[in-house]
Amino acid sequence: MGRPGRAGRHGPALIMDIQQRVAVVTGGASGIGRSLCLALAEQGAAAIVVADVDAGGAAQVAATIEAGGHRALAVTADVASAADARALVARAQDAFGRIDLLCSNAGIIVGGGVEVPDEAWSRMWAVNVQSHVYLARAILPGMLARREGYLVYTASAAGLLTQLGSAPYAVTKHALVALAEWLYITYADQGIGVSCLCPQAVSTNLGATSRRQVGADTPTTWSDRGAGPQAAVDGVLTPDQVAACVIEAIAQERFLILPHPEVATYERRRADDRERWLRGMRRLQARLSGGR
Ligand SMILES: NC(=O)c1ccc[n+]([C@@H]2O[C@H](COP(=O)([O-])OP(=O)(O)OC[C@H]3O[C@@H](n4cnc5c(N)ncnc54)[C@H](O)[C@@H]3O)[C@@H](O)[C@H]2O)c1
Repeated sequence: MGRPGRAGRHGPALIMDIQQRVAVVTGGASGIGRSLCLALAEQGAAAIVVADVDAGGAAQVAATIEAGGHRALAVTADVASAADARALVARAQDAFGRIDLLCSNAGIIVGGGVEVPDEAWSRMWAVNVQSHVYLARAILPGMLARREGYLVYTASAAGLLTQLGSAPYAVTKHALVALAEWLYITYADQGIGVSCLCPQAVSTNLGATSRRQVGADTPTTWSDRGAGPQAAVDGVLTPDQVAACVIEAIAQERFLILPHPEVATYERRRADDRERWLRGMRRLQARLSGGR
């Protein structure tokens, strides 16, 4: 995409150039999604569609992009609804003719394990996994017809390792990494680039926005400023730092985006000796929960 002749990691001649591309960012009203919208505008994207359940937040981000002289459209959508996901894609295509880049970023967290109520587990599956299926289903036909397009999935380090304190998050983010890998394997030879973003803690509103969707009583394991338990170990990045990693990875067509580079080591240790890695995670959990 963009510069014929340069070989990309995905195969022949396909380096994604963000300039003049039309991007859709889900969860664009806040946190990583908001920073992605602003970074894409800065990179010269032709238009950015800011999609979120938070209508006011999406409108604000779109207004900020427009104030900087770029084109933007705010769309209110619950991407966990197949109808909303389809309508989002149709609105973006009507407004700007096509979608070149999807940042499928919206996600939520709840804390707990198998005792988490079914409604909350279902909501986690719907937002963290099925929404990405709906969007890919709606967007891929156009991309495949043009033989170019790029999909970026915001998973989490939890999707490669685990999430202490949240089984639904660990399980659904593992599923999302699997989906992103499958899409890459299946469509890379047809001109579709795929990247999968797997950060540890990032300072965002994840706790607060998740509570809005799963109910105020549901624990999120996340503070309102987005610091999960791993924050104590490898630190907290800003959403702008994470967005910069995404922009760089798209330019290089790199599948795995690890803003916390330590995650590569942890993943290697997990693959090399699973028993040892599991024992290490037990120790870490005990340490973070004060030896309980
Ligand atoms: N904050 C972290 O530490 C961290 C770490 C790893 C991965 N992530 C992932 O990053 C992504 C973005 O989260 P964030 O941390 O920027 O949090 P955030 O709460 O600041 O932003 C998430 C945005 O997604 C929107 N959203 C949630 N569900 C939606 C839905 N069904 N339809 C449309 N919009 C929806 C929210 O309204 C919010 O504006 C999530 O997928 C999250 O799991 C976050």
